[in-house]
Amino acid sequence: MKKIHKGVILAGGMGTRLKPLTRVTNKHLLPVGEKPMIFYSIETLVEAGIEELLIVLGGESVGDFVKLLGSGDEFGLNILYYVYQSKADGIAGAIKLAERFVGQNSFVVMLGDNIVNKTIKPYVDKFAQSPDRARILLKEVEEPERFGVAEILNGKINKIIEKPKEFISNLAVTGIYMYPPDVFDVIRKLTPSARGEFEVTDINNAYLSKRRLDYDIFDGLWTDAGTFPSLRRATEAVWDTEKKS
Ligand code: TTP
Repeated sequence: MKKIHKGVILAGGMGTRLKPLTRVTNKHLLPVGEKPMIFYSIETLVEAGIEELLIVLGGESVGDFVKLLGSGDEFGLNILYYVYQSKADGIAGAIKLAERFVGQNSFVVMLGDNIVNKTIKPYVDKFAQSPDRARILLKEVEEPERFGVAEILNGKINKIIEKPKEFISNLAVTGIYMYPPDVFDVIRKLTPSARGEFEVTDINNAYLSKRRLDYDIFDGLWTDAGTFPSLRRATEAVWDTEKKS
């Protein structure tokens, strides 16, 4: 089995939905429970076996990230790199900046505002068995219209729709994506969406149309923390987990 040792965390974006908290700092530095938000995605990836990490930064407070995370030693990382996304042109735009870091390796991406309360290692291990295929994690949610949503037919993904206006399923595509290195060829062929962003849903649909997209349904709690209700959910989730341990 090939070992997956490279990971990318996306911590760019504008964080507009958390204003005024994000007026003078970056969303991923805000507290969730007893730690800054970005600690959780780093810890999730390290626990899954990631040893080399690239963090895509953007917006405000770049120096604060370096001061906070330094060399990544504290997390058990062998390598921690940073890159700056000068324009928040979407999740696929941010992933593109990882091309040189990733090289010919398959890798895991996690959105820096996503929080899970359970290991993702079993899924990364499955990905390691077929690293030439893309893999996504799905999770049932109450407001699918906020997310990319996958429709499953006969156990297979039939289509993924970004923020569907009509109900197709309650399975959101979580912000944990696993890609082979040819994802950068896929990204180069993308065109911006109506909202002017390079969409991760378009990457996933490109792999789907080539029949190279696998999925698992994540068996823990998953939430983003990018809106006030979801930031509150994230805080409660980690609070419960931290109190138990
Ligand atoms: P979003 O929550 O979709 O966007 P945002 O963080 O800019 O927030 P808002 O919509 O309130 O302005 O982003 C999801 C994650 O992806 C988040 O952790 C930041 C990251 N991201 C980037 O790194 N670069 C980008 O260009 C975008 C859009 C998001």
